[in-house]
Amino acid sequence: MSTRPIRIGMTLGGRSSTFVLGPLAGLELGAFVPHPPPVVILDQAVASGHAPWLEQIHQSCGHPSPRTLILSGGEGCKTLAKLEEVYGWLAECGLRRDGVIVGIGGGAVLDLAGMAAATWCRGVGFVSVPTTLLAMVDASIGGKTAVNAAGLKNPVGCFHPASGILADPGFLSSLPRGAWRDGLAELIKTAAIGDPELFREMHEARPRLFTLFAGPDADRPVPGVLGSLDWTSWIGRAASVKARIVTRDFQEGGLRRSLNLGHTLGHALEAISHRNGPPLSHGQAVAIGMAVVFRVAAQRGDCPLPAAVQMVELLEACGLPVSHPAPDPAELERMLQGDKKQTSRQGLNWVLPRGLGQMNIFGQVRTEEILRWLD
Ligand SMILES: NC(=O)c1ccc[n+]([C@@H]2O[C@H](COP(=O)([O-])OP(=O)(O)OC[C@H]3O[C@@H](n4cnc5c(N)ncnc54)[C@H](O)[C@@H]3O)[C@@H](O)[C@H]2O)c1
Repeated sequence: MSTRPIRIGMTLGGRSSTFVLGPLAGLELGAFVPHPPPVVILDQAVASGHAPWLEQIHQSCGHPSPRTLILSGGEGCKTLAKLEEVYGWLAECGLRRDGVIVGIGGGAVLDLAGMAAATWCRGVGFVSVPTTLLAMVDASIGGKTAVNAAGLKNPVGCFHPASGILADPGFLSSLPRGAWRDGLAELIKTAAIGDPELFREMHEARPRLFTLFAGPDADRPVPGVLGSLDWTSWIGRAASVKARIVTRDFQEGGLRRSLNLGHTLGHALEAISHRNGPPLSHGQAVAIGMAVVFRVAAQRGDCPLPAAVQMVELLEACGLPVSHPAPDPAELERMLQGDKKQTSRQGLNWVLPRGLGQMNIFGQVRTEEILRWLD
């Protein structure tokens, strides 16, 4: 098991952003929080279960009891109404232009806290402490912040990188199995895009992954999960891939779009399932999306068949779905055309694998091909 902290430095839009990963990462908070004391926006799910550790983290920056706003985590907190509530609280705290907001929680709380930091006083400092797997490998890295509005996911947001991202895998001890699976979908995606060796390692670990994650009890923590696999190494390597991509293409002009692997179909299926039920989680929808684009690319002869087979095997080992009943073609087409990632100039582009570690970000796929490979 890795014990040394892993550090990844990025420069995003001219600002420095440092990812620190390891069991003591939180204790580096002081390095990112100059005077005056920070204010903390905290995910309720970690407020009680990890209280002593949070106290030590706060102590490390010389402010043992910072002003703290505790919010219910999850998608429900990413609203304009909640953002307004946060602004009211920041005003009460008297946070000025030289202040710092520390966000501690899953991707939803971090998106909200980041959005507040990006806009309060036209931008205050932001430090992020991700507490879910998905937030550690994805949401906390790259400076995107957003809230949901107008019935859409993430249409209101801006780029505002955290100066420090302090990832301690210890927080994951309380993470429910379902949230682990959602994070694994993004971890597998990132490995497939930029670290084939990590992908192979995960593929070899399928028996262990299956034992841990394929079972029921999606709402309960996974016993013994932290000691079972070298999470620090896996998270660090996925974070390196994402950091490399966002450093080269901060504002998603090209390369960063490769991170949408599985997301074009995934977003459409997620939205349809939330209307017609049963609802798919984001990770489940992305898993189906990845399985389908690998099948499409392999069938066309654009991607080696073994890569597609391995993708499906790995997703299944993690308890993630790889197929789905085909939705109404017209509804699917409508949802795909509404994908916010398409630009008016370029139309809808799909991320299609050419193999592990090689993505075509300008792929074209017909809806009939999707329907054929969906179930
Ligand atoms: N900004 C970005 O670049 C980016 C990238 C990917 C995803 N996202 C966003 O991230 C969000 C999803 O993030 P997520 O998967 O972390 O889910 P989440 O933030 O919705 O958290 C899932 C649940 O886990 C709880 N939780 C958090 N930490 C926990 C812990 N250590 N133990 C137990 N429970 C814990 C939360 O309270 C919540 O109920 C979405 O809103 C998505 O849009 C943002």
